[in-house]
Amino acid sequence: MSSQAQASPALLGVGILGAGPVTQAIHLPSLARLGNILEVRHIMDVDPAVAASVAGRVGARFSTSMEELLADTAVDIVAICSPHQFHAAQVIAACRAGKKAVLCEKPFAMNGEEAAAISAVSAETGVPIIVGAMHTFDPGWLAAEGAWGDLPEQVHTVRSSIVLPPNPRFEDFATEIVGRVSLPSSDPTDPEVIKAMLTGGVMGLAIHDLPLVRRFTPDFADVEVLHAEIVRPFGYVISLRAGNVTIELRAAMNATWEPAWEFEAIGDDAALKIDFTPSYVQAGSATARIRTAGRTTVLGPFGHNGYEGEWRKLAELAGGTGQPPSAETLIHDLEFALAIAEAAAGQVDTGRVDTGRVDAGSAASGTTEDQEVNA
Ligand SMILES: NC(=O)c1ccc[n+]([C@@H]2O[C@H](COP(=O)([O-])OP(=O)(O)OC[C@H]3O[C@@H](n4cnc5c(N)ncnc54)[C@H](O)[C@@H]3O)[C@@H](O)[C@H]2O)c1
Repeated sequence: MSSQAQASPALLGVGILGAGPVTQAIHLPSLARLGNILEVRHIMDVDPAVAASVAGRVGARFSTSMEELLADTAVDIVAICSPHQFHAAQVIAACRAGKKAVLCEKPFAMNGEEAAAISAVSAETGVPIIVGAMHTFDPGWLAAEGAWGDLPEQVHTVRSSIVLPPNPRFEDFATEIVGRVSLPSSDPTDPEVIKAMLTGGVMGLAIHDLPLVRRFTPDFADVEVLHAEIVRPFGYVISLRAGNVTIELRAAMNATWEPAWEFEAIGDDAALKIDFTPSYVQAGSATARIRTAGRTTVLGPFGHNGYEGEWRKLAELAGGTGQPPSAETLIHDLEFALAIAEAAAGQVDTGRVDTGRVDAGSAASGTTEDQEVNA
C-alpha cells in the first residue's frame, strides 16, 4: 500500500472499489473537476498492478482488500465500480462501515432479494446510497423534470434509442452480465445466446434509461413485451407496454450512424426529447426540448454531465444536505429492469424472436478493434 500526502480536512475523502475502465475513464475525470470539494484518497482493486497504477495517477493510497479501504478513516464516500456480481455485498459492507455516502455502479443488485437487503441495511445504518444511473443526475434531465408540467399524466409513448460505435468488448460485457460466464456457444442463432444478449442489453445498457422510462410508467406491474430482437453485432429492439404506455427500446453498435443517445416521451399535447452525450463522453449535459403546440422550450446544454452530477450529489449527501433517492425507487427501478429483461428473454422460448438483423454498417465494421466504447 502506498502512502498519500496529508489529507485536507476541508475536503471529503473518496475511496473506490474496482479500478477498471469506468473508474479510470468516467469517475476520475469527473472527480478531477471537483477537486475543491472531493479528494480521491484510496483505490482498491483485486489486481494489485491496477490498484497501484490507478492510485498513483491521483496520489491516493491503494490496496487489494475491501476491508482495508473500508477501515480507512480518510474515506468518507465509497464508490463501487467492481463487476456487478460484487455490488450487493460491497454496498452492504460500505454501509456497515459507517461511511457518509455510497455510489454503486449499475446494476446495483442482480435480483429483488439483494436489492431489498441493501435497502434494509441503508435504512438501518442511515447511509445514503445512489446508483450510477447517470442520466437521472444530468442537469438536462433535471431541468426537463422541473419544466414538463403534466406531461407524465398524458404520455402514451416512450422511446430510448442508443447508437454507439461498435465494440467487441461490449458484447462480452452484455453476455457476462447475466452470469453466463461461459456460454454454450457464441452462435447468434443459438437461443441461449440470444437470450443472454437480450438480458445483457437490458441490464447493461437500457438500464441507464429505465429509471427515466419509469417516471412515465410508475405502475409497471403489467409489463408486456410485444417484440424482442437482437441487432448484430450488438444491439436490441424491444417493444413493450406498461399500463397505457407503449415503450420502445433500441440500441445498436454501428460505425456508420452518428453516435446518438436519445430519449423521448410523447403525449397528446406535449412531448419531451432529450439528447444525451454518449457514455464515457465528458462534454457537458444533455439538451432537453419540450414541445407543445407551436412552441419548443430548449433546456441546456449545461456545463456538467450526469457523471459529475452523481459526485455533486454524493458530496451534498455526505455533507448532510440533499435528499437521497428513496430505497423504494431504487428497488422498483431494478425490478422494472429485471421484469423487462426476463420478459424479453422469454420471447425466445415462444419462438417469436428474430435471430437478429445485421445492418450494413455494423456488418462492415463489427470487427473493428481500434474503437473502445462501453456504456
Ligand atoms: N455508468 C456507466 O456509464 C457505466 C459504463 C460501463 C460500465 N458500468 C458499470 O461499472 C462497473 C465497472 O465497469 P468496468 O467496465 O470498469 O468493469 P471491469 O470488469 O472492466 O473492471 C472492474 C475492475 O474491478 C476489479 N475487480 C474484480 N473483482 C473485484 C472485487 N471483488 N472488488 C474490487 N474490484 C474488483 C477488476 O480487477 C477490474 O479492474 C460495472 O458494474 C459496470 O456495469 C457503468
